Amino acid sequence: MASHPIEIAPSILAADFSCLGEQIAAVERGGATILHVDVMDGHFVPNISIGVPVVASLHKATRLPLDVHLMIESPERYIEMFAAAGAARILVHQESTPHLDRALSLIREHGAEAGAVINPATPIAMLGEILDRVDTVLVMSVNPGFGGQKFITSAYAKIRELNERRQRNNFSFRIEVDGGVGPDNISELVAAGAETLVAGTSIFHQPDPTAATRSLLGLATSRSYQEVREVAGKLSGGGQNDGR
Ligand code: DX5
Ligand code: ZN
Repeated sequence: MASHPIEIAPSILAADFSCLGEQIAAVERGGATILHVDVMDGHFVPNISIGVPVVASLHKATRLPLDVHLMIESPERYIEMFAAAGAARILVHQESTPHLDRALSLIREHGAEAGAVINPATPIAMLGEILDRVDTVLVMSVNPGFGGQKFITSAYAKIRELNERRQRNNFSFRIEVDGGVGPDNISELVAAGAETLVAGTSIFHQPDPTAATRSLLGLATSRSYQEVREVAGKLSGGGQNDGR
C-alpha cells in the first residue's frame, strides 16, 4: 500500500508578497516541508499570478522544495524553464493539454517530479492511463484561479477513489488536494487518503502563519485519523491482516 508522509504545502498565493521571504520562514518554522506555487496565465484560468523569475528567486531564498502548480495553456512550452528555475515538482492540468502523457514525461526528463491535476468537473477516469507513471495526483477542491474559495465536497469521493485504485494496483503516486483546505476538513481529507494538503487562506490570512501551519499539521497527523486511515487501507486493499 502506497503511503506518503503527510505534508502541509502553504500556497504563497495568499501570502503578503511585500515580505514573501519572512512569510516563508514563518511557515517553515510551523513545520511546512514544501511550498505550493500557483502559476496562472489569464487564459487557462481567469487570473494572472507569478511566473518563472519568481520561482527562480524562491528557489534561492528557501530550502523548501517548490511544488509548482501550472494553471496555464500549453504547459509543455514552459516545463523546461520551470524545472531550470528550481521547481522540485511540476503539476499540469489534464484539461490544459491534449498531450498529458508527453507533458508528464517532459517534466521527468527535466529532473522534476511529475504531477497531474484535475478540476472539480473532471472525473478520475481521465487519468486512468497515466496513473502508473505519475508522482502526484492533485485533486482540485475549488475551481482553479483564486484563493479563498469554498471547498467543494465532491473532492472527498475522488480522493477515496484514487486511494482505492492506488492500493488495488500498487501504484505509488502521492495524493494532493488544493482549495478551501483548513481546520474543518483537513482530518477528513487525510482519512480519505490525501497526503499533501495545500493551504493558502487558512495559513497566510491568519494572524500567526506559524501557529496556523503547526495546528493544521497537528490535525492532519493526529493519531486517531491515522488509525482510521490504516484500517480503511486494510479493508479496501484486501490485504491479509494478521492482527498485529
Ligand atoms: C487556486 C490555487 C490554490 C489556492 C488555494 O487556484 O490553485 O493553490 O491558492 O487557496 P486557498 O487555500 O485559499 O483555497
Ligand atoms: Zn494551487
